Amino acid sequence: MGIFFIFPGLDDIPLEICYTLRMQKKLIAGNWKMNGDLASALALTRGIVEGVNADPGLLQRCDVLICPPFVHLARVRANLGQPPLVMLGAQDCSERENGAVTGDISAAMLADCGCGAVILGHSERRQFHQESDALIAAKAGKAHAAGLIAVICVGESESQRAAGTHFEVVAAQLKGALPASMTPENTVIAYEPVWAIGTGKTATPEDVREMHAFIRKSAGSARILYGGSVKPENAAELFKTENVDGALIGGASLKAEQYLSIAKAA
Ligand code: PGA
Repeated sequence: MGIFFIFPGLDDIPLEICYTLRMQKKLIAGNWKMNGDLASALALTRGIVEGVNADPGLLQRCDVLICPPFVHLARVRANLGQPPLVMLGAQDCSERENGAVTGDISAAMLADCGCGAVILGHSERRQFHQESDALIAAKAGKAHAAGLIAVICVGESESQRAAGTHFEVVAAQLKGALPASMTPENTVIAYEPVWAIGTGKTATPEDVREMHAFIRKSAGSARILYGGSVKPENAAELFKTENVDGALIGGASLKAEQYLSIAKAA
């Protein structure tokens, strides 16, 4: 049973594009962060699209989402094929509608340039931009109003895990950052222990199982992704873990081969 998301596109792109989001399918989300120039973004896009085309069964097994930097979104979108097989997402959006907010990008603008999703509350935004749970909830509300899927990130720091407060920390983040507009279809929760991001350290399958079971109580049937040093070598084991509905991938999403091999593990 599929759920269809319809959002407006650029002039040269069909106005209505449907993505089938099957809740039982894993979601493989690539977070490109602030990496690459236009040429490398387009080369990466080409590699991913070719890989997906070469394996027709892949999209039966998982949904593929890529989240390039804002400035590359429209060009990447134009290179995803017609209709696009790969979903496009952004890495943040404003909590405001539009208007005099210099430097910000609204959720409606993202939808307009072909995005179907947006990552919100990533730990790097919490750390470098002091984003609070309330701000993340406001952003998610705007994302939903624009028809975007909000991929909301939660996760404890190394010291919080060492102190044994990781469940409390994640519970507070979920309570504060999940908006009233959340449904299982418009929201994905990404559990990303901060100490596992970009460090090569992955949480053990048991840690992941425990935390995802805990998050499940707030998530309902929304998908729960694991993020933090996901690689082709550890993906299969993670995907076998109960309540792991996909992955949010940073470093390994910058190489088409590695990203596709993680998708294949789903
Ligand atoms: P990583 O990043 O895969 O490079 O650890 C994950 C993320 O920050 O989303």
